[in-house]
Order: sequence, then structure tokens, then C-alpha cells
Amino acid sequence: MRGEKMDKSTLYFILAESALEPIPTEFKNHPKLQRYAKKQKKSPESIIFDKSIHSFLINDPKGYEKRGRPDLVHISLLSILGTPLCKTGRLKLFVHTANDLIIQIDPNVRLPRNYTRFVGLMSQLFETGQVPPKGSSLLSIREMTLKELIEEIKPKYTILFSETGKEIELMKFMSRAVEYNPLAIIVGGFPHGKFSKETYQCANEIVAISDTTLDAHIVVSRVIYAYEIAMKTK
Ligand SMILES: C[S@@+](CC[C@H](N)C(=O)[O-])C[C@H]1O[C@@H](n2cnc3c(N)ncnc32)[C@H](O)[C@@H]1O
Repeated sequence: MRGEKMDKSTLYFILAESALEPIPTEFKNHPKLQRYAKKQKKSPESIIFDKSIHSFLINDPKGYEKRGRPDLVHISLLSILGTPLCKTGRLKLFVHTANDLIIQIDPNVRLPRNYTRFVGLMSQLFETGQVPPKGSSLLSIREMTLKELIEEIKPKYTILFSETGKEIELMKFMSRAVEYNPLAIIVGGFPHGKFSKETYQCANEIVAISDTTLDAHIVVSRVIYAYEIAMKTK
């Protein structure tokens, strides 16, 4: 960011309980999945679960309310990685998945803009554990809960953004929040439903930026913009 004061602040940004996973194990032996995988010339394990494409597997949509939305994760990641803050290398990005995996994303990674290519990359990541498979990784994955991640990165303060939180005026709120360094921000990477109790327990404060539910990519853009402005005037 041009004209900005020299500051060593780091923002940890976590997309939590994200709807990004390979086809759930309960569908692995489903004949429809076997046929689909054969048609796609892929192993069932390497297919990323997308509820709108793989709706033929789901009998009871209730249990899948929060799952199978890699498109939402894709758009949110592009929105985060494209911010000036991320381009300066002062944002550290993690995707926590609903199955307690943590994906660490190098802020310099050039994620595919195309959805099909993004899903292909994620499939490679779930299979090999890191991308590229050798050398220093741009994307890496490990088994870890959100609580364990917070314990590892040790932020001074953790803010969870949720429509169920206390409504705040974002710019004013962020001008105070940036006093904590490092600060961690959590936004849900899922389409419907609530955060788990474990996620709520990771936060020092739970806040809402409006009285309506917004898409995750809108929330991440607004929150990072507010952080950038607050850092400039700090
Ligand atoms: C599509 S929403 C998921 C909806 C969910 N019912 C919820 O609790 O907000 C994706 C994420 O965006 C964030 N979000 C959505 N609306 C918000 C609001 N009004 N204030 C703060 N965060 C919000 C939350 O982190 C949420 O998990």
C-alpha cells in the first residue's frame, strides 16, 4: 500500500468450517458415484464434493446444509488474495474445513480464476498434501482443529464475524481492533447454518456488520478493506 506508515502488523485471516472437501466417505460405494467417477475418468476419492453437481447422491439435504460449496470458498479466496493487504504479504491465510483440516495458502499463490481449474487444484491438494508436491509449498494441508490453529498462531485477539454477533459499525470497530497485533479474523466458509460451539469458543468477540446475512466474499472484502483503512490512519 503506497503512502502507508511502516508497520509490521500481521493479520491472520481464517475461513472457518469451509464447505470444501472430497466426496464424503458415506458416498464412496454409491453405484451412482462409481458410474459418475468412471465417466469423469477420476477415482471417487479425488472428486471435490459440489452439492449442486453431486445432488444425485443426497437423499436428505438437511445434513448437507453447510457442505459442498467449493465455489463459495473459491470466490472468497480470490477476494482475499486480490486485496492490497494480501499483496503486501501482511495477511496470512488459512482455510479451516468442516472436517478439521487446515489449508495454509501462500499469499503469493496465483489461484486459478476458472472454477473447474480451481477444483482440479484442490483435488491435487487433497491427494498429495501440498501443491506443488515437492519443494516449498504454495498450498499445504494438515489435520488440525481451528482451536489448535489458534493455539499455534497465538493471535493477541480473535474476532469472529457472524450475523448472530453484536452489530457494530465496521470502520469504527476496526480502528480499535488494529491495536491488537497480531489480530485474527474468522469468517465462515459455508453457505447456511451456524458456526459450531468450538468455533464460537475460539473467539474473543463475535460481531455482525449488518442485520442481514451477507455472502462470505462480501464480508471478507469489507472486513479487509476496513482493516487496510484502519492501518493507514493508525
Ligand atoms: C453466507 S454466511 C453463512 C451464514 C450463517 N447463517 C451465518 O452465521 O452468518 C458466510 C459467512 O459470512 C459471514 N457473515 C454473513 N453475514 C454476516 C453479517 N451480517 N455480519 C458478520 N458476518 C457475516 C459469517 O462469517 C458467515 O459465516
